Amino acid sequence: MLFSLRRKKRDKPGKRRVHGELAPLGWRARPGAAGPTPEERAFAVGAPDYPVVDGPHYIDVLDQLHRRLKPQWYLEVGAFTGLSLSVARGGYVAVDPMFRLGAPPPIFGQAHLMQMTSADFFASGFLARNAIRPDLAFLDGLHLFEALLDDFIAAERHAAEGGMIVLHDCLPSRDEMTARTWDEAKVRFWTGDVWKVIVILRALRPDLRITILDAWPTGLALIDRLDPANATLAEARDAQVAALRDVSLRAYGLERFFGALDIRSSFTHLQPQP
Ligand SMILES: C[S@@+](CC[C@H](N)C(=O)[O-])C[C@H]1O[C@@H](n2cnc3c(N)ncnc32)[C@H](O)[C@@H]1O
Repeated sequence: MLFSLRRKKRDKPGKRRVHGELAPLGWRARPGAAGPTPEERAFAVGAPDYPVVDGPHYIDVLDQLHRRLKPQWYLEVGAFTGLSLSVARGGYVAVDPMFRLGAPPPIFGQAHLMQMTSADFFASGFLARNAIRPDLAFLDGLHLFEALLDDFIAAERHAAEGGMIVLHDCLPSRDEMTARTWDEAKVRFWTGDVWKVIVILRALRPDLRITILDAWPTGLALIDRLDPANATLAEARDAQVAALRDVSLRAYGLERFFGALDIRSSFTHLQPQP
């Protein structure tokens, strides 16, 4: 109840979203549409030179991913209130240094709540010790790109064959969202500078398939064709962090970043599954 009230407040004005449905919001879901309607543009709350991110709610997109992929093991970094965890349907490991669960999380088989930073969690060897290879991972912890890069490197190393890693918040919609510290007075959704991870993955790992979805409010990046044995990112990590640490998205170039992404309709990419 707590969750549905919280989520309902975020719904697109004038549209009802039923839990588990992937509502066809957004102009990308309408083939041939020239662009967003004024209502969609207002909903996306973006600055004029940012792309409109007005697809279905990211929780509903995650829900469809769980239904479609049916992961035997799900790994979540950054669980907070348990909202994204609430759509898991198999065994899972959820990591957060400060859980604030609003309701008991679902339990299907094994459910591990690890109250620690992701760095400590991966260093603990828990996954290898328990022979857990996640088929699906959602990385939504600390919103600093070096932390997400480390989470990605570790999650890929433990991924199951054919697995997928999902990144949150790679589509900011205004400059203030991308600051390295969250000013809650200025922005409701803080993406931090995790967009830089997309830049790094595109540059160094052309073997990965990266699909950027228009999930409201800050996008989802689906990454598959993972290769747990690939050491490219680990080897390049420090140099990439040093090179990008102080680069803002505006200095990097909005057109350079967003223009290189092929933002897809969540609705057409993930047709609802029963
Ligand atoms: C945006 S919230 C996660 C929201 C949740 N995934 C959802 O969609 O409902 C980010 C979470 O990351 C957690 N976090 C912060 N630093 C972290 C770290 N170093 N390792 C793992 N989680 C971290 C925070 O405690 C917070 O609960």
